[in-house]
Amino acid sequence: MNEVCFFVRGYNSFMTTLARYNQLKQELHYHLYRYHVLDSPVISDAEYDRLMEELKAIEAEHPDWVTPDSPTQRVGIAVSEKFEKVRHPRPILSLANAFGADDARAWYERIRKLDPRVETAGFVVEPKIDGLSVVLHYQDGVFRQGATRGDGEIGEDITANLRTIRAIPLKIPVTRGPEMPANSQESESARQLALFDASLSPVSASDLPAYLVVRGEVFITNHDFENLNRRLAEAGEKTYLNPRNTAAGSLRQLDPAITASRPLTILVYQVVYAEGGTPPASQWAALQWLRALGFPVTDVARRFDSLEEALAYVQSWEDRRDELGYEADGFVIKLDDLRLAEDLGFVGKDPRGAIAYKFPAREVTTQLLEIEVEVGRTGVLTPRAVLEPVEIGGVIVRNATLHNFDYIAEKDIRIGDRVLVKRAGEVIPYVIGPVVEVRTGAERPFTPPAVCPACGQAVEHFEGEVAWYCVNAACPAQLVRNVEHFVSRGAMDINGLGIRIVEQLVEAGLVRDVADLYFLQKEQLLALEGFAEKKAENLLQAIRASAAQPLHRLITALGIRGVGEVMAADLSRAYPDLEALSRASVAELQQIAGIGPNIAASIADWFSRPANRALLAKLKTAGVWPVASKQSSVTSHQSLSGLTFVVTGTLPTFTREGVKEFIEQHGGKVTDSVSKKTSYLVLGENPGSKLEKAQALGVPILDEQGLRKLAEG
Ligand code: IVH
Repeated sequence: MNEVCFFVRGYNSFMTTLARYNQLKQELHYHLYRYHVLDSPVISDAEYDRLMEELKAIEAEHPDWVTPDSPTQRVGIAVSEKFEKVRHPRPILSLANAFGADDARAWYERIRKLDPRVETAGFVVEPKIDGLSVVLHYQDGVFRQGATRGDGEIGEDITANLRTIRAIPLKIPVTRGPEMPANSQESESARQLALFDASLSPVSASDLPAYLVVRGEVFITNHDFENLNRRLAEAGEKTYLNPRNTAAGSLRQLDPAITASRPLTILVYQVVYAEGGTPPASQWAALQWLRALGFPVTDVARRFDSLEEALAYVQSWEDRRDELGYEADGFVIKLDDLRLAEDLGFVGKDPRGAIAYKFPAREVTTQLLEIEVEVGRTGVLTPRAVLEPVEIGGVIVRNATLHNFDYIAEKDIRIGDRVLVKRAGEVIPYVIGPVVEVRTGAERPFTPPAVCPACGQAVEHFEGEVAWYCVNAACPAQLVRNVEHFVSRGAMDINGLGIRIVEQLVEAGLVRDVADLYFLQKEQLLALEGFAEKKAENLLQAIRASAAQPLHRLITALGIRGVGEVMAADLSRAYPDLEALSRASVAELQQIAGIGPNIAASIADWFSRPANRALLAKLKTAGVWPVASKQSSVTSHQSLSGLTFVVTGTLPTFTREGVKEFIEQHGGKVTDSVSKKTSYLVLGENPGSKLEKAQALGVPILDEQGLRKLAEG
């Protein structure tokens, strides 16, 4: 890498080892800052490692030179028994809560009456990070001590643990250090880097208070939390409930080596105390000042002149809080004028000059009353939690998913447990895990059923899968879901045949398999509740029209385990009709790209079952017998490889899973939130806030047709 030549060149003859040592320390601080605070490294990991090795080598030769701010000093020795107490230089206050805009307006009115300056003070709005409040002490710019909030007066000394968090600068201000002599080629890259750095406007060392105490929130990003839990699960170890508990547990470890192994980070938001220097008098300036010193500071904070503007901004985050990438339980609205905020004083531990605008909680605890087992379309048995009804984010939740039987065993979830339940965005509520600390001993472990709860047939398990199945094609519980899938948008797309009508048809005995749909008579429909002439005619017309759907849609509609929209298209290209497909052997099916042994076996198994063969014959009689066209609309080469997509809104023909499968089959990746790394936003009807974000970041936008073109191109 050219840009960094002047950093990594070995120390030359005219430089003393001590000078090189000091320079290395400064450069490593700078690179840690680029990586962990700015998210924008300028050297590769290998180059970083090389600098670190050089530093370690010098320290091994000269142990007396090592200072506490050396980048090698992140992981120290374990605390023996408990943490020492630390008195905070000033009280570490809490915040009063506002639940909604009216609460916030009432707060404003209260403080406006106390001091009319409030009217012109302005507001700073920041995310309220759901982590742990910590207090960091710097003496002459060197990190000396760090503490928990404790009771607000006295906290615990967790310095050794905080040192392991790479986003916490060990030395401030973070600067890039003196440039080394450069040749002409290097000087251009050096110049470019300097230009980039100038935009950071570092505070010069002479402006730095001799003793500075700042406050921030330590947390784990959602992404890092998921990775950590995945790694633990793979290693067969116990997983954590949520990022906040994990961060809290990690900070209170007596052994800093354990803390160092957890992906903790920090955002700093307050100057608590400054001696020998004047910190900014407004919150907005304080944030810029902290950033310029090299502290990680949120880039989501905004300043507004009026409360109403501030509230509108806060509310704009309510539905898109997941885009923050970490858990935030609300936003903090702070008076920008810190002198005024100070003068207003506090009530108990809550300063009058700020308020926490709380978002509805998304995680709550409740009692797990029972575990029921449902039978899905493909016969998968899914455990479902029956909960003591509880409100989560304005909705009463009575049931939550438990994913699968392995999940219940892994998390040791027992009937009667107090469980943590999460409901966020479009995600179905799910049980995160038990709160083991409050077990009474009356909880019962759950045993998965050996037979299908709907039809009584023994359940089966397939090699390499976690799910258990009821493989009885005539299982009544499966029929409704089967028909529902058969008529769905990505399959036969029969308009007007919603779940209610499917249930009616099955209940009345008019539909015993999906082929029965094509033999329905108008009189039969008219006998059902809610059916009049017109509705019956429309439905029959829609069913008839669906008989002309292409082969790949019919294959999708059959609901063969492991065969989605894209694989159905691949199969329809390889076989001219269902007769030919039904004769394909497992070995032959595996010749098709993307079909492995499990899915090949599942396809062959489906066609070998007499009930399914009878179904095919019935479909043929009904005239539902498409023959593959030469050119299928879906291809499966890796044309989207290296591209990342985000989907928003409803697409004309794809379902959510369908479009994901389509993109992945073509080598692309689908993620949930828009970032600079997103290659395309796929836009459907009624898009969410992702559209705005994509537009703001200049992410190109495609509709479904555009996506298909790109994949085929
Ligand atoms: S300001 C006077 N700002 O929320 C200053 N607090 O419920 C009071 N928190 O104990 C705190 N993000 O741990 C402030 N941007 C932020 C915050 C924040 C998270 C936490 C903090 C505090 C708790 C109050």
